[in-house]
Amino acid sequence: MALANLSLRLIFMDNTKLTAENRTSILKQRFSQLFGGGSRTYQAPGRVNLIGEHTDYNSGFVMPAAIGFHTMVSIAPRPGRKLVIYSENYSEHIELDLDHLPVARTGHWSDYVIGVVKMLERAGKTLVGANVLVVGDVPQGAGLSSSASLEVAIGYALLDSSDHRPDQTSGTMCNGTGIDRTKLALLCQQAENEFVGARCGIMDQFVSSHGKQGQALMLDCRSLDYRLLPLPDGVALAICNTMVKHSIAKGEYNQRRAECEAGVRELSKCLPHVLALRDVTAEDLDTFGHNLPDVVRRRCHHVISENARVRQAATALESGDLPAFGKLMLESHRSLRDDFEVSCSELDLMVQLAGQAEGVYGTRMTGGGFGGCTIALVESACVEAFQQTVQEGYTRATGCKPEIYVCYAADGVGQMF
Ligand code: GLA
Repeated sequence: MALANLSLRLIFMDNTKLTAENRTSILKQRFSQLFGGGSRTYQAPGRVNLIGEHTDYNSGFVMPAAIGFHTMVSIAPRPGRKLVIYSENYSEHIELDLDHLPVARTGHWSDYVIGVVKMLERAGKTLVGANVLVVGDVPQGAGLSSSASLEVAIGYALLDSSDHRPDQTSGTMCNGTGIDRTKLALLCQQAENEFVGARCGIMDQFVSSHGKQGQALMLDCRSLDYRLLPLPDGVALAICNTMVKHSIAKGEYNQRRAECEAGVRELSKCLPHVLALRDVTAEDLDTFGHNLPDVVRRRCHHVISENARVRQAATALESGDLPAFGKLMLESHRSLRDDFEVSCSELDLMVQLAGQAEGVYGTRMTGGGFGGCTIALVESACVEAFQQTVQEGYTRATGCKPEIYVCYAADGVGQMF
């Protein structure tokens, strides 16, 4: 396919049916226009969370799936210790000297890249200089983890392309296909926590690293043990974008974390084994929660009940009981709306509209909240009608046309063809 002057991002956004081979060859062409040949290409997906919201940073349970939107990175080594990175989405290039990395964030998109590079180097992974092309089609500001997919894609590509030499520090981390995906996810989370300044949990980076086609991933965010749970054939993940931009780096997210931590501090006075809300039962909260400020008690109630819902949802999925799964999704939404207070009127409206459509097992807001997307589990046969009904209803009520993405669970980070 000829590139001419078309934006790569637009080619990908408008052509969701492009095969991975097509995409790789477009990227290779673009890379050689910019830097010359010899590139390898990688992609890391965004994610949607089926259930288990605001539980990851409370050492609890989550159940996300990777989706078919990606950040793609083409890379080729260059002599020296300089990274020259071109972002197709921003039509902008940056240069990083690996020996003199910036010390502070600037609010620029490159913070995510710099953060990952710093964490990799700090972990002892001596990177080689490289030319890099980055392009992404994960909708930004929609709560589908475009930033985690950028972090994981860059991290994986840098590790794999620095792996022309044997790794000196650990047998596994920098070992071609043997890249330790859990370590990579943790380093990317650290980059976001320590350099970008958002105190996110591990969910997004973990599923972007470990996701599997056709499967949801149930993760224990304390032990990092996970189970892959097959999603039934014939059920689509319909992601409905309210078009209200959410911004995770803003204060509300960090404030919710602080409220959960305040709950832990207070409860652990009576329950010394409590290190995180994960360790508190519903009965504990009833017995010992009366001293908590109302807001903190409600935050705790959400997290404790949501952890229980994730476990029940896993059982429902394993026994093929989608109506039970759907009911738990709705309860999750109510809890996020009323107890955790991270929904907004547009998300509530979208859930209401989707809940009334035919062939829908369940629906809820997904991700951090305050805008972004909802997720609905919809019979594939009904998904077109679903799109139309929800789009019309939402547009009529708000004057704004929502985007609806019909997705199926995808694979985590890897090299493209
Ligand atoms: C954001 C964060 C995640 C998680 C969710 C809420 O997506 O990045 O770590 O906390 O919000 O479940």
